[in-house]
Amino acid sequence: MADPLQTVVGNSLLMRELKQQILQVAGAEFPVMILGESGAGKEVVARAIHALSARRDAPFVGQSCLAIPESLIESELFGFEAGAFTDARERRIGLFEQAEGGTLFLDEIGDIPLSFQKRLLRVLQEREVRRLGSADAIKINVRIITATNAPIERFVSEGQFRSDLLYRLNTFEIRVPPLRQRTEDVPALVEFFLRKHGLRYGIEVKAPEAEIMQRLKDYPWPGNVRELENFVVRWISLGEEALGALDRSVALGFEQQEVSRRWLTMTMDEIEAEVIRMVLKDCGGNKTLAARRLGLARKSLYNKMERYNIEGVEARK
Ligand SMILES: Nc1ncnc2c1ncn2[C@@H]1O[C@H](COP(=O)(O)OP(=O)(O)OP(=O)(O)O)[C@@H](O)[C@H]1O
Ligand SMILES: [Mg+2]
Repeated sequence: MADPLQTVVGNSLLMRELKQQILQVAGAEFPVMILGESGAGKEVVARAIHALSARRDAPFVGQSCLAIPESLIESELFGFEAGAFTDARERRIGLFEQAEGGTLFLDEIGDIPLSFQKRLLRVLQEREVRRLGSADAIKINVRIITATNAPIERFVSEGQFRSDLLYRLNTFEIRVPPLRQRTEDVPALVEFFLRKHGLRYGIEVKAPEAEIMQRLKDYPWPGNVRELENFVVRWISLGEEALGALDRSVALGFEQQEVSRRWLTMTMDEIEAEVIRMVLKDCGGNKTLAARRLGLARKSLYNKMERYNIEGVEARK
């Protein structure tokens, strides 16, 4: 089998250090928490750890905790027996059981409801789950890898995340650096995505010339590797026109600098209230998403909205 580390593209010093850490933890069994900005490659790292571990032939089950509605999180993770609740017609195996022998990757762990954290901690301590509607405990042998782009230490100090659960999960922490801190990796990533997506379209597209590559290195990539990948997909079909979106994004940055001059005359509270309004609007009123972008727990966003008297833009979800 090919070297699983090849799926983690990049040879900058920071990426070499990251790969070293991946190798270190792959052989061990303890939980790993992966931290890093959105789109930086946290899932790529989680998959590489699994592929290098002794569990590589067993399943890798990945799930974003943000994608599960609060009321369903238990049944998703632990499963249920037929008749456990009104809609439970058939038994359903939960993610822990699906990952048996392998790795369970819980993304956006910072967003799991406080009410559920104690139950999750028990499962990790006792290494057994009970399906909803069943009294029987099922032994599980699963390695847990979690990830988050939220400031989880702050969640702990604000009481949104249990410290005992955090210490269970972050025996080893891996930080995936944002792309703007390792711009030497841009050309290799561009080549990688050209091959990946060019092959899919059945065409061979040449890499951008040196001058354009330099512009790509200078661009700050707020959406990290995911944004770069999207750029390459546009480059394949649009060529240089694809650069337009980057220019617009930079221009937007300048406009925002103008806005920030006005901020010099405002109090911190006024600035905070304004930023919350802007982000809420930008997220179409989706408070979960807005909280995530602001690095806040949902509950602290609600508290702040109440404090500053901010009306929730009508949610689209
Ligand atoms: N080092 C890398 N090498 C190759 N592909 C990468 C790398 N980093 C990220 N990618 C690709 O970029 C995209 C985003 O990566 P990934 O999903 O791992 O990010 P993430 O940190 O989990 O993001 P989020 O916080 O939004 O969940 C994926 O398509 C992934 O394959
Ligand atoms: Mg992810």
